[in-house]
Amino acid sequence: MTQSQNSELPLIDMRSDTVTRPTPAMRRAMFEAEVGDDVFGEDPTVTTLEETAAERTGKEAALFVSSGTMANLVSLLSQTRSGDELLVGDRAHIVRSEAGGVSRLGGVLATTLPNQPDGGFDPELIPGAVRPDDMHQPRTTLLALENTHNFCGGSVVSLERTEEIAGVAREHGLRVHLDGARIFNAAVASGRSVAELAGPADSVTFCLSKGLGAPVGSLICGDESFIREARRTRKLVGGGMRQAGILAAAGLVALEEMVDRLADDHANARQLARGLAELGFGINPEDVQTNIVIVQLDTSQDSAPSPKLQAALKALGILVTTPDRTKIRLVTHADLSSEDCAEALRRMAEAEIGPDS
Ligand SMILES: Cc1ncc(COP(=O)(O)O)c(C=O)c1O
Repeated sequence: MTQSQNSELPLIDMRSDTVTRPTPAMRRAMFEAEVGDDVFGEDPTVTTLEETAAERTGKEAALFVSSGTMANLVSLLSQTRSGDELLVGDRAHIVRSEAGGVSRLGGVLATTLPNQPDGGFDPELIPGAVRPDDMHQPRTTLLALENTHNFCGGSVVSLERTEEIAGVAREHGLRVHLDGARIFNAAVASGRSVAELAGPADSVTFCLSKGLGAPVGSLICGDESFIREARRTRKLVGGGMRQAGILAAAGLVALEEMVDRLADDHANARQLARGLAELGFGINPEDVQTNIVIVQLDTSQDSAPSPKLQAALKALGILVTTPDRTKIRLVTHADLSSEDCAEALRRMAEAEIGPDS
């Protein structure tokens, strides 16, 4: 914990699992990494990371990129042409938090289907959403899922649901992309392997710099020909990196050492949710499946309560985000212990923070 700017209290940063600092083992691996020019395909550490990622996701090949946003963008652009249509959940990170890249840079129309609480959507909506072969209309060619689902509160989309949705998409000739930024959380929480959860998707991405604690980097995984195309697209968007083994080295440590401990983050998130419920917030701790807690606030007195609550928490040295003006989001991660969560709850109780504050 670092010191809060506004108070004497040590800062408890629950804004995101992206705030983690690299572990000593990661820093050592970065220092010692063997490197080469990865745009020439000559960085042995990047190659090892890509091979490891392909193996973990059960795909033929993988590509290292700088961020989850670039991983999604490159994946989507590599499987569509300008004027195509993407079907995607209305709460997906791709539509809410990636600057509209798929439309702006890919010329792809993103049509949303309503997300259900588990992060999936009703597969029965897919046949009606896929456009007929008609020159007036865009071609619907791709469907995107997200697991775990960030804005659905870190929910796990089960393998059965993924298979069902991907199966209907495929029957209608669509390819399937899976934004698996936190798919390792989904695997740990569900007892399924990452390869099983990614099985129904043509392309899957995951992030090293969220729950897995690495400083930078995401992977795109899929079959050889898709990854060849993705490598070209990565170059197009300026994502070819040179001695990137420095970063990949930390990613290898993340995959080796940081997966099993995600269960601790999930337990800490439950602990937080239980404490928030005890403070009177309308949250069911049983709904918290992984490391994200989203609290829907009472809007009967104030239609936009979350900025005020966020500011009150900040004054106590507790940082959270506001997915919208009626919700706050708290995320657990490797740099936050069970004691930190208990301390946050204690500060809130002492300051009488509650649904009416
Ligand atoms: C589900 C999901 N996908 C993609 C991303 C984008 O990752 P990045 O911040 O590395 O661009 C995020 C980031 O929080 C995310 O939650």
